Amino acid sequence: MIKEAKFISSCDNYLKAPAANKPEYAFIGRSNVGKSSLINMLTNQKKLAKTSSTPGKTQLINYFEVNDTWYLVDLPGYGFAKASKEMRGKWDLMVWNYLTSRESLCCVFLLIDIRLEAQKSDLQMITNLGENGIPFAIVFTKADKLKPNEMMRNVALYKQILKQNWEELPIMFITSAESMRGKDDLLGYIESINNG
Ligand code: GTP
Ligand code: MG
Repeated sequence: MIKEAKFISSCDNYLKAPAANKPEYAFIGRSNVGKSSLINMLTNQKKLAKTSSTPGKTQLINYFEVNDTWYLVDLPGYGFAKASKEMRGKWDLMVWNYLTSRESLCCVFLLIDIRLEAQKSDLQMITNLGENGIPFAIVFTKADKLKPNEMMRNVALYKQILKQNWEELPIMFITSAESMRGKDDLLGYIESINNG
């Protein structure tokens, strides 16, 4: 249960992040997939993390503290077409350095738009996370946009693709920031890690 969630700080380098003395959970994924919206949904706040219908809104590593005991971390998205190559390279490096070096990172939530077929950039991220032993879960977003049967079909297709390369599939969640679907599952998962 989230009693309190508050913004702590933003930084452009994980070395400038708050002390790594609390468990933290990061949200990554393509620009506009709904990372910031999901953080707001989980924390019951409309404007805690800044969202936008235009991709490329989140540009820094943003820390939100929950119940004074753990952190949610909002990150810039990848694949934002309008950003210059230089900017993209900078964001990708900032995020990747964070993912590979932050000691208190407990789990990365990789967000995937449930409406789309598997995207190269997401599959590449899954490979990178797996190869680097970074614990992650897959979170399908925008479930409110599909009918249940279309949703289940897309999730099954995604599993099929992952099975070509992985023996074991990561844990998966189906969510919607609109309908609040998946909220309890996701918070329960975080709690189980915090208590583990
Ligand atoms: P960047 O910060 O640019 O990387 O994007 P982001 O991944 O943080 O996405 P953001 O949360 O800003 O949401 C992008 C757009 O998708 C906004 O217009 C949101 O309202 C919309 N959106 C996010 N989640 C959902 C959802 O579950 N359902 C629907 N229908 N729209 C959503
Ligand atoms: Mg964002």
